[in-house]
Amino acid sequence: MSFLELRGVDKSYVSRGNSLAVLREINLEIEEGEFVAIVGYSGAGKTTLISMIAGLIHPDRGTILLRGQKIMEPGPDRGVVFQNYSLLPWMTVEQNVRIAVDQVFPDWTVEKRKGQTDHYIEMVRLTPAKHKKPAELSGGMKQRVAVARALAMEPQVLLMDEPLGALDALTRATLQDRIDEIWRETRKTVVLITNDVDEAILLADRVIPLSAGPGATLGPSFRIDIPRPRNRKEINHEPSFKRIRKDIIDYLLASGKAKREGRTKPHVSAAGGGGMDGNVTDQSRTIAPPNRRGEEETWRPFTPSKCEAIEPATAEIES
Ligand SMILES: Nc1ncnc2c1ncn2[C@@H]1O[C@H](COP(=O)(O)OP(=O)(O)OP(=O)(O)O)[C@@H](O)[C@H]1O
Ligand SMILES: [Mg+2]
Repeated sequence: MSFLELRGVDKSYVSRGNSLAVLREINLEIEEGEFVAIVGYSGAGKTTLISMIAGLIHPDRGTILLRGQKIMEPGPDRGVVFQNYSLLPWMTVEQNVRIAVDQVFPDWTVEKRKGQTDHYIEMVRLTPAKHKKPAELSGGMKQRVAVARALAMEPQVLLMDEPLGALDALTRATLQDRIDEIWRETRKTVVLITNDVDEAILLADRVIPLSAGPGATLGPSFRIDIPRPRNRKEINHEPSFKRIRKDIIDYLLASGKAKREGRTKPHVSAAGGGGMDGNVTDQSRTIAPPNRRGEEETWRPFTPSKCEAIEPATAEIES
């Protein structure tokens, strides 16, 4: 039995009388302490997937199990960091974290709850800003509060939905390093949703691409054996990083192409990394599979040169 397991999960939305099949046949097994990243197109169903694991919405078919127990509703065993910070604007950093601690550990003494709050605020390096309100914080700081709040609940699983998506490259790199450090410190089971292949490979034990929607499904797992701590500059020169990066991007591009052509499965294998005629060397271009609204879904991976330009240590300047 896996720690977290999704079996044959389908999810559709009905909107204005039309049904949209967002996810189909999602199968996923995650071990305790594993860091898994799911990478995919905008609009493919990543938030839908994380919301189902969080218990906020329910699958139409299939089951989601945590330690063998069916997930029916949200619970403190799953800490969620949402795409849009979701802090309470009238509360300070300290109060935003404390409210979660009070909710999950009502039997603890006041001292212990305060200690827990302070510990996680310090873990994300926000002690100097603990009396500030969200409006006085930068995007990166808000995101760190959200991470502290989720961790302070001591969940069994940390679910992060594009936590760094709205940040500039420098802040993003700094927070990636912080997430990596925190993970090595806590060894929590993590599911990270991202649209950034490099971020996924930098942080995760395993990266799984989500194919283009509608009817998106998970592709093959790519195990990342690059030793930790991983240095973003150095891994750009690792042959295994380059190969996995290319294979994941190939898979995503092929899934987009398959959607455009009305096929359901991309013609590309996990190991092969070939089999498509898109220009995969031009990895920074925007790719656009169709969606039901006729709008373009976009996904733009980081380029190695962009990553190389980032010196993470210099960006820790917000607090
Ligand atoms: N409550 C809803 N009702 C109807 N359609 C929805 C609802 N929520 C999401 N959708 C649709 O489901 C699809 C998947 O949405 P979702 O938010 O899961 O995508 P995503 O991969 O998280 O995108 P992004 O990367 O932009 O955050 C989209 O086409 C979206 O318009
Ligand atoms: Mg989303």
